[in-house]
Order: sequence, then C-alpha cells, then structure tokens
Amino acid sequence: MNEQQRKEAGLVKTPEAPSNEKDYSQYFQTVYAAPSLKDAKKRGKEEISYHDDFKIDERFQGMGTGRKFYIRTYGCQMNEHDTEVMAGIFRGLGYEPTDTVEDANVILLNTCAIRENAENKVFGELGHLKALKRRNPDVLIGICGCMSQEESVVNKVLKTYDQVDMIFGTHNIHRLPHILHEAYFSKEMVVEVWSKEGDIIENLPKARIGNTKAWVNIMYGCDKFCTYCIVPYTRGKERSRRPADIIQEVRQLAAQGYQEITVLGQNVNAYGKDFDDVDYRFGDLMDDLRKIDIARIRFTTSHPRDFDDHLIEVLAKGGNLVDHIHLPVQSGSSEILKIMARKYTREHYLELAQKIKTAIPNVTLTTDIIVGFPNETDEQFEETMSLYKEVGFDTAYTYIYSPREGTPAAKMVDNIPMEVKKQRLQRLNALVNETSAEAMKPYKGKIVEVLVDGESKKNPEVLAGYTEKNKLVNFKAPHSVIGKIVNVKIIEAKTWSLDGEYIGVVEKEKVMI
Ligand code: 5AD
Ligand code: SF4
Repeated sequence: MNEQQRKEAGLVKTPEAPSNEKDYSQYFQTVYAAPSLKDAKKRGKEEISYHDDFKIDERFQGMGTGRKFYIRTYGCQMNEHDTEVMAGIFRGLGYEPTDTVEDANVILLNTCAIRENAENKVFGELGHLKALKRRNPDVLIGICGCMSQEESVVNKVLKTYDQVDMIFGTHNIHRLPHILHEAYFSKEMVVEVWSKEGDIIENLPKARIGNTKAWVNIMYGCDKFCTYCIVPYTRGKERSRRPADIIQEVRQLAAQGYQEITVLGQNVNAYGKDFDDVDYRFGDLMDDLRKIDIARIRFTTSHPRDFDDHLIEVLAKGGNLVDHIHLPVQSGSSEILKIMARKYTREHYLELAQKIKTAIPNVTLTTDIIVGFPNETDEQFEETMSLYKEVGFDTAYTYIYSPREGTPAAKMVDNIPMEVKKQRLQRLNALVNETSAEAMKPYKGKIVEVLVDGESKKNPEVLAGYTEKNKLVNFKAPHSVIGKIVNVKIIEAKTWSLDGEYIGVVEKEKVMI
C-alpha cells in the first residue's frame, strides 16, 4: 500500500501511542504501520542492541482481569515458541488462557507463510470467526506471525476481513500490550508491522506449554535467501542471542526440572556469525550446553552449508546431545540446488552426511525435500530419489513447491504441470514410508528410553513419548511417569510409531563432561 492508498484508507503511520488517554480517539484514526517485503529484504550493518528492560506499562496493568485469551498456532517451532511468549505477556496483563474460541475475549491466529496451503488455512479460519464476531462483537480478533509480514496479506485482510481487529508482525510481539490497548479503543483495524527486525529483548515473559520439554531461541532471522523461501523476509536478518543469556536460560530450565531442550533458529549453523567481538559459533554453544545437567538437547533447523567440522566433533561427544540430526537437503540435483541458491552441491551434501555418520556411527538423519521446483526435470527428480536412498535417511518431510510472492523463484516461468509434481510427491512419499518402516523394524524386542509426554492422542489409557532419535512410542503405564524418562520394551514396530511394554523409570545419570 503506498502513501496515497493509505491516505485514502484513512490510515497514516504514527510511531508511538500517546500517553494521554484523551488523545486516543484522534490517534486511532491514524494508526497504521504496513509491512514491505522490499524493505524486509535489506540487510544493513546496524548493530543489534540487547535489552532486558521489558515491562508491562502501568497503564496496561490489569487489562486482562476477567478476560480470556486463545492463540491458535500454525507453522514451525519458532512460531510455537512465539506463542509461549505472547501467552506470557497475556498472563502478565492478567488474562487467563482458554482452549475454546467461544470462551475467549481475545483470539490470535499466529500464522505461517511458508506455503500457500498454510495461508489458506488461516483465511478459512478467519471465515469461521466472522460468524463468532457477529454473535459477539466485543471479541478481539488478531493476526500475527509470518503472514502479517506480507503486504499482500495485510492488504487482503484490510479489504476483505473486517472481523479482524489487529494485525501485528513477528518483530512486534513485545508491543502486544500497546496493540491490545489500541484495539480496545479503536474503531479501525490496528496494523503494526515492522518490516525491519528490531533489537533482541531478553526478558520477555514465557508461559511454556508443559514442564518437560522446552524451546530455547538461540537466534532470530535468516540471511540465506534460498530462492523459494519467504522466511528471510518474514523473520528479518540473522541476529544471535549472547551465549551467556542462552546458557543461563538452559540452566534455569534444567533447575526447574525440564528434561529436554530444543534450541531453535531458522538456521542454527549460522549462530554467532554476527558477533564482532567474540569467535563463538554453534559448535561452541553446543559444547557448553552439553555440560549442563539436562537429559536431552536437540536443535533445529540446520543448513548443510554452515555445518562445520567443529560442530560434528562436538556432537560426536554425545552425552545429552541427541544422535538425531535433521538436515534439510531440499533436492538431490546440483543444478536445482544451484537455482534454489542452497550454496552446496549434491556431492557436498553426500560428503557431509558421510562425515557425520563416520563421527557418530549411531546417528539418525532426517530431512526436508521439495519436489516440483520450477522446471525440475524427471532426471533431476530421480537424483533426489537416489540421494534419499544413498544417504539412508530414516524419514523426511516432503513438500510440493509453493510459489511465494516476493521471492525470486516465484518469478521463474515454470513448465512442470501440477499433475507431474503430485505424481513425484507420491513416489517420494512411497519411498519415505518404506524407509521409515524399515528404520522401525530393528527396534522390535529392544529396550528404548522414552521421555513420556502424556496420554496418547488416540487413547487416554495409553501413554506416548519420544526416544532420543525422535521415534514415537506408545505403551501402558501409570500416569505418574508422565514427564519422566522410562525404559520400554518394543513389542511392535509400525511405520510411524512403536508399541511397547513399560519396564520402569530410568535412574538419572550424571552427565559426563
Ligand atoms: N514451497 C514448498 N516448500 C517449502 N519449504 C520452504 N519454502 C517452501 C516453498 N516455497 C519447505 C522446505 C523447508 C521446510 C520448512 O519447508 O523444505 O525446509
Ligand atoms: Fe512458517 Fe517459516 Fe514463519 Fe516458521 S518461520 S512460521 S515455517 S514461515
């Protein structure tokens, strides 16, 4: 939306809400900060500032008393964790959580922009919420997350979805109290989306889901600019948290009894690249986290390009560093990888996988694959099939390429019909099912350690949890073992899960340093 269109819509950007309540009516006619993918693409040299001064403004204290919030999360773990931060802010404002939209005073959709179908789900949900808004005009409906960072989405919502009261972006989460406050007073839709990433705020509150497994951000953003991917635009430039802050957070979680940490970043292997003052990279961080007395440490997501020897050396030390690595390959064809701007070749990936397997003989590798990238030939697709077999992945997440407006790949003329892409996906999925079932078979009769999540989704009498290698295990046991690591003997191996018999709780060993 340009300045003229904004004026026509009666919306002009204003940076700060007035402190004086009286000035609000005028202010609310004018609140509008729109996103721009063009601006989001820019990568400047500006230093990142770190803050730990987040606090809920006195004006907003008690805003949520007697009110309930509901957040629906789409997309990746980064989004799940952002939801925990927003839930923490809601709790700080006095709101209570609810798990039904009918019960909520504020409904947020924390959205994902990675593929078109992720976006369609959100638009579908907004359609359902229209009826709710009609029945209950006082409910506030908000959109946040990655879709909010796209100007086309914001324009579409402004034009078509008047049931929406507020839109804010991934860089504005800490502004939630202000945005809610504005939304309560405003007759207009409140739009506050910054295209450029902000600073790192260390002390945002978090209402974590569960008390066994926790996500810990180590960095934000992505500078890789794979040609198909919207993330560098929706999440901004790479910014790493300081090592001491991460280590302190993990130590605290360990002290609180958490058993498993997943460290999060859009490309964790780029961790520390942005530090000017210290030479401290992802391998160093994992080496330090390894020394913390917590049962399991995972990480996601990796990029093969920055996966260095030091990291492999550290992961090979084992201990609490799990022997499962998710390493997205995207394609087995060097030509396609080049057009995707992945910055590695098929040969480089195979070499890296071999190096990892040599250093960690027991390792399990999983991956992400995109089929039907613009103009992918049959031969290039066959290279993906053959690479998948050659690496010996346990399993994979597979996707049909989805053009994302604003990315370079979306401008490529694509001569591959959708029917062909669907057939390729089917063939790949058949292979993935086969390898997944194969990987499960050897577990039959073995005893595995399972971190118990809770009741299984299908049957409340059965408990479910995951092994270090991220295999889902179902078994019957007393509910008192939820949150503990237990031994389970595997009785049956299925394609996607294992069934077993409970043996007993694993006595906690001290981490070897
Ligand atoms: N189309 C299809 N799949 C995509 N991914 C990322 N962008 C796209 C896109 N435009 C997949 C990649 C990535 C995973 C999270 O989503 O495989 O690793
Ligand atoms: Fe979706 Fe990517 Fe945003 Fe995660 S970072 S929510 S996968 S678009």
